[in-house]
Amino acid sequence: MRHWARDARARHRLRRRRRNHASGEAVGATGCVLGFDSEPRAIEVARARALVAGYRNIEFVVASDNAFPDRPLFDAAIGRYILHHLADPVATVRRAAEAVRPSGVVAFQEPASHINDQTLPTIDLYAKSEQRLKAAIRAMLPHFDVGGRLVACFEGAGLPTPHVICEALAGGPDSPLWRLFAMAYRSMLPHMVRLNLSPADDDDSDTLADRLVAAAAAVRAQIIAKPQSCAWAIRP
Ligand SMILES: C[S@@+](CC[C@H](N)C(=O)[O-])C[C@H]1O[C@@H](n2cnc3c(N)ncnc32)[C@H](O)[C@@H]1O
Repeated sequence: MRHWARDARARHRLRRRRRNHASGEAVGATGCVLGFDSEPRAIEVARARALVAGYRNIEFVVASDNAFPDRPLFDAAIGRYILHHLADPVATVRRAAEAVRPSGVVAFQEPASHINDQTLPTIDLYAKSEQRLKAAIRAMLPHFDVGGRLVACFEGAGLPTPHVICEALAGGPDSPLWRLFAMAYRSMLPHMVRLNLSPADDDDSDTLADRLVAAAAAVRAQIIAKPQSCAWAIRP
C-alpha cells in the first residue's frame, strides 16, 4: 500500500518523521492522505485501524500499482513493503515519481532480505527456522532483495540517487523480536508446507515463540532483526 501526502508542510514533517509512516499524522489537520492496495481485505483493515486511531484525513481505495488512482499531483509518495512483490519495481517507482509534483518526495521502505537476521550466541532453532522462512520468501517474492537495490531502482526510474538508510531493531532475551519472528513464521507456514520446505524441528508453530524465548533466556542471547532499507529522493 502506498500513502500519498498532500500538504505544503508534509515534506518537512516527513523528513523529521522518516521512521514513522503514520502519514495521516505527518500531513497535519489540513492535509490529506490517500492509501491504496490491490487487496480489498487490506483496505478494510487499514480503514478500520485509521478509524480507531482517529485519523479522519486518510482515504483508502482498492487500486493496483499498474493504475494509480487518478488525482492531482501529490507532495509525497511513500511505499512500504510493496516493491518486493512486483514484477517490475522500477516501473512502480517511476509511476510514483510521476504522481508527485516537482520538488515532491518519493520514498520507499523494504526489508533488507538479502541480509540474514542474527542471534549471538547462535540459537539453532532460530537459525533453522529463519533459513526455512527465508527460503519461502525467496521462492514467493519476485524481488526479495530489492531492499538492497533501491539506489538502482530510483535511478532506473529517472530519479536522482536517493538517500538510503538501513536500520535494524535489536534486543535481548526479553525483546518482543523473538515472538514477532515466531508470528511471521507461523503466518508463512502454509506456504512453507506448500513449497515442501523441510521443517526446522517438530514444526509446532504454536509453541515456537515460547521455545525461542526460553532458548534465548538460557544463553542470554542478543537478536538483530531483519534490517529495513529506506530510500528517498526529491523529484527534479
Ligand atoms: C507486505 S504487505 C505491506 C502492506 C502495507 N504497505 C504495510 O506496509 O503494512 C504487501 C501489500 O502489497 C499489496 N500488493 C501486492 N501487489 C500489489 C499491486 N500490484 N498493487 C498494489 N498493491 C499490491 C498486497 O495486497 C499487500 O497488502
